[in-house]
Amino acid sequence: MKGSKVSFFIAVLLVLSLLAGCGQAATPTQPAAPAQAEANQPAAAEKTYADMTLCYPQLGAESDWRTANTASFKETATELGIKQLVFSDAQQHQENQISAVRACIQQGVDVIALPPVVEDGWDAVLTEAKNANIPVIIVDRSVSADSSLYAAHIGSNMVLEGERAAAEFNKAMPDGGAVLELSGTTGSGAAVGRAEGFRNKLNPNITILDSQTGNFTRAEAVPVMQAFLKKYTPGVDFQGIFIHNDDMGIGAIEALKAAGVKPGDLTIVSVDGTRGGFQAMVDGWFQADVECNPLLGPQVYQMALDLMNGKTIEREVLTNETVYYPDNAAELLPTRKY
Ligand code: AHR
Repeated sequence: MKGSKVSFFIAVLLVLSLLAGCGQAATPTQPAAPAQAEANQPAAAEKTYADMTLCYPQLGAESDWRTANTASFKETATELGIKQLVFSDAQQHQENQISAVRACIQQGVDVIALPPVVEDGWDAVLTEAKNANIPVIIVDRSVSADSSLYAAHIGSNMVLEGERAAAEFNKAMPDGGAVLELSGTTGSGAAVGRAEGFRNKLNPNITILDSQTGNFTRAEAVPVMQAFLKKYTPGVDFQGIFIHNDDMGIGAIEALKAAGVKPGDLTIVSVDGTRGGFQAMVDGWFQADVECNPLLGPQVYQMALDLMNGKTIEREVLTNETVYYPDNAAELLPTRKY
C-alpha cells in the first residue's frame, strides 16, 4: 500500500514536470513564428519595377525636346526593367491622346503618365481613370482639370521660363523697344505659361508688337516668320523676338537669313536648351536660351512605383532649371544630352 502510494506520487510529479517543461518551451517559439512571417510580409508584397505596366501616351514628335523626352521614357524603361511600357504618339492631337488613355484604362495598366498637348478637356477621361483606380501623373505641361482627378504633376515651371526670357530682354533693351513673339501650341500649358510669365516681367517700355503661333515646330515657324517680315521691318519696327522653343527658333533663323538679317541684328531669346539652341548661340543668333529639361523618365517611374506601393508622393514636382548664354555655349555643346 505504502509502496504504491509513493509510486503514484512519483508518477504525478513526473507528469507535472513534463507539462511544465512543455509550457516553457512553447512560450518563446509560438509567438515568434507569426512575428517573423509579418516581418517578411512587406518585403514580399512590395512591388518592383518588374511588376510595372506604365502607359505613356506621348503627345507627338514635334521638336528635338520631344524626341529627347520620348527617349528618356523608353531608355529608362529598359534600364529599370519595367514589365511593359505602353507607348503611343498622338501626333499633336488631343483626341488621339484621349483614345490612347482609354485604351490603357481598358488594358488595366498600373499607372498612366500623361503629357497633355493642351490644358483643357481632360476632365472626362481623368475621371474614367480615377474610377478605374489607375493613378495618373501629369507630365511636362499642365492641365486645367481639378487636381483631385490626378495624382501629381512633374514638369517645368513654364511661367518662370517666360519670366526668365523677359528678364533677358529687359537687360538687352534697357531703353525699350518692340518685340515679336513666336508662340507654342495654342492652349498648351507650355505656351500659356511662357506667355504669362513673359508679360509678368517684361519692362513697360518694351511692347509686344505681334504674337503668332508656330505650334512648336520648325516647319510651321518658317511661314510665320516670313509673314512677320512682310509686315514689319527688323531693326525698325521691332528689335527682338521671343521664341517659345528652339525648333521654332531654328525655323525663324532660316526665314531671317533669307531676308538678309544677320546674327546679332536682333535680340533673340528662345526656350529649351537643345543642341540646336546651343548651336544658334554659338552662331550668334540667340542671346540666351532658357532651359526646359525633357529628361523626366527617371523621376516619373520612381513616382509611379511609389504610387503602386501606396507611398506618399509630392503632388507638384518642378524641375530645377537655368538660363544658358553664348559665352560658354561652344564649350557646353558637346556635353548636351539632347
Ligand atoms: O512642353 C514642353 C515644350 O514642348 C518644349 O518647349 C517644346 O520644345 C516641346 O514641343
